[in-house]
Amino acid sequence: MHPISIDAIAPPRLDLARTPTPLEFLTHTSREMGVDIYVKRDDYTGMELSGNKIRKLEYIMADALASGADTVVTCGGAQSNHARATAIAAAKLGLDCRLILRTADPAAPPAPDGNILLNYMAGAQIVWITPEEYRHREDIFQREETLLRQQGRNPYSIPEGASNALGAWGYIRAMEELAGDIAQLPEGLERRTTIVVATGSGGTTAGLILGTRLLDLNARIAAVNVCDDRDYFLEAIGSICETAIATYGLNISFDRERDIDIVDGYVGRGYALSRPEEMSLIIDTARREGLFLDPVYTGKAFYGMIQELKRDPRCFGERIIFIHTGGLFGLFPQANEMVPLMS
Ligand SMILES: Cc1ncc(COP(=O)(O)O)c(C=O)c1O
Repeated sequence: MHPISIDAIAPPRLDLARTPTPLEFLTHTSREMGVDIYVKRDDYTGMELSGNKIRKLEYIMADALASGADTVVTCGGAQSNHARATAIAAAKLGLDCRLILRTADPAAPPAPDGNILLNYMAGAQIVWITPEEYRHREDIFQREETLLRQQGRNPYSIPEGASNALGAWGYIRAMEELAGDIAQLPEGLERRTTIVVATGSGGTTAGLILGTRLLDLNARIAAVNVCDDRDYFLEAIGSICETAIATYGLNISFDRERDIDIVDGYVGRGYALSRPEEMSLIIDTARREGLFLDPVYTGKAFYGMIQELKRDPRCFGERIIFIHTGGLFGLFPQANEMVPLMS
């Protein structure tokens, strides 16, 4: 099918994710939009340990263990899926976990709902910081690492979203899995596929782009940003790709402008804030397809995809694979916004 095996060239990884995940056809939406839409169910990489982050953490946690770490430290928004996946993976591996989470007022942290509840249950220690402190989170990481070392601990820091060159291997490998899925579809790998994905810290998209080029696949990666803008993601995704190419000696050409395709314009009210039209689409999709999207990532990306298709039904070609990257626990804290839309 394609000449190289990703496992043969990738760094060591742990087996944490339930893979391969299924690829499902989205019957009603495909009919309505007049284009074949499939969903790659990466929300099925596990139950509590689910979503896209766990594919990245397979590589990062392997590195943490190899370095002799006894504590992992990471960061994110209050309802970060990545933080929750890290806390649970750490519990599974016998590591301690410290989460640096962003909230408006650290003196009055958010209720233990959704991902936060699971973090506490997994035994993670949460350090609440303000959005302003989060902008300088490298200083907070350093402070926490120093504190842990003073206590005789050996910390290992994981960046936001596990989005670095090592974590990108999770989605380089997922791209190989997707190539196998695509090969089973009518006209297989010959027919061009557009892969639509939510992008937040960029690592998932970076992995998909690198995987596409390494495996020489006939695919376009269309990333819907859920925060910031196109320029921000050219830099964020571009630097992960370039670091991975240099660190692992990947024999591919890469150009930020040519290879990074950001579908900008669907951030809406801002990161983790939803508009009623996004929430309504999430509810409709649950009712019509039995597919549950999250409000922060997949709901926004799906909304963006549908708006683009309404504008031009052929804008993504004839075959789309939407990656469901998980995040369902983020729905529960937004129940109050959702309920009025359901009557
Ligand atoms: C459910 C979900 N989908 C998509 C993303 C975006 O992935 P990335 O941060 O790798 O861009 C994230 C995390 O940010 C996430 O939690």
